[in-house]
Amino acid sequence: MNTPNRIEHQMTDKGYVPVYTTAVVDQPWDSYTKTDHEVWATLFKRQRELLPGRASKEFLQTQDEMGMGEQGIPKFSDLNAQLKAKTGWEIIAVEGLLPELAFFDHLANRRFPVTWWIRKPEQLDYLAEPDLFHDLFGHVPLLMDPVFADYMEAYGKGGVKAHSLGPEALSQLTRLYWYTVEFGLINTSEGLRIYGAGILSSKGESIHCLESAAPNRIGFDLLRVMNTRYRIDTYQKTYFVIDSYQQLFDATLPDFIPYYEQMAGRESTPAGQVLDSDRVFNRGTGEGWLVPRGSGPARISAMSARPWEPW
Ligand SMILES: [Fe+2]
Repeated sequence: MNTPNRIEHQMTDKGYVPVYTTAVVDQPWDSYTKTDHEVWATLFKRQRELLPGRASKEFLQTQDEMGMGEQGIPKFSDLNAQLKAKTGWEIIAVEGLLPELAFFDHLANRRFPVTWWIRKPEQLDYLAEPDLFHDLFGHVPLLMDPVFADYMEAYGKGGVKAHSLGPEALSQLTRLYWYTVEFGLINTSEGLRIYGAGILSSKGESIHCLESAAPNRIGFDLLRVMNTRYRIDTYQKTYFVIDSYQQLFDATLPDFIPYYEQMAGRESTPAGQVLDSDRVFNRGTGEGWLVPRGSGPARISAMSARPWEPW
């Protein structure tokens, strides 16, 4: 079997530009090097030491239940046996970032695309695109949770629809993914916990999102979230807090077309702003909010409407 391509972003004179791919491949498990397995093991261990008491219980439980461990990069076929039996989802291996519609279509059909390749040892703390560690460690475990699994399918179906409606609907729906699937917090009887994959796969943000006084932590409200801009190149200025996965699923059940109509032409809310109508868990001090990295607006606008993120 040929090893599939490793599709990564390209550096140009305008900064990094994303490169998209649609191929579904077989996970070339035999081609992983000793270093690849070590990168997985290092990151896995580091996050699992950090996450008890910070990550949602469901995340930690489902990750164990699937059989993900620090011993090396898991075989997708092994994980799929557990996942398919539990919620009917499956992991498919892809070469890199997918175009929006292809991505939504996979989700709508309970297929979660996982980048087959893993970052290099010098990229442990930051990578400008999704890799195997982010996708598999961060996203896949909660697909074992029946309610969250249903939410992800509903989101995919909503994405296919938004794609046909136009760029404004698409960008509003993408914000929902960003602030829930990637950077969501959940309120529990033991305190706030992380369920967003962008946080779960990042050492720095796993601490920052809960313990720093800088960011806002605000109760989830669907239209509020869909109208709020975000930064991809810094820690989040605002995290939205759900009460349960059921709340998330219920919020995405209705047809979104009336919401898009309601929001049409409305000015979007800056990432760090707190509104009078917000249920505030923590009003951020804003201290240390980072000046953007990267080369400026071209990079930001090219990336900001993508279900994709740095970690
Ligand atoms: Fe992600």
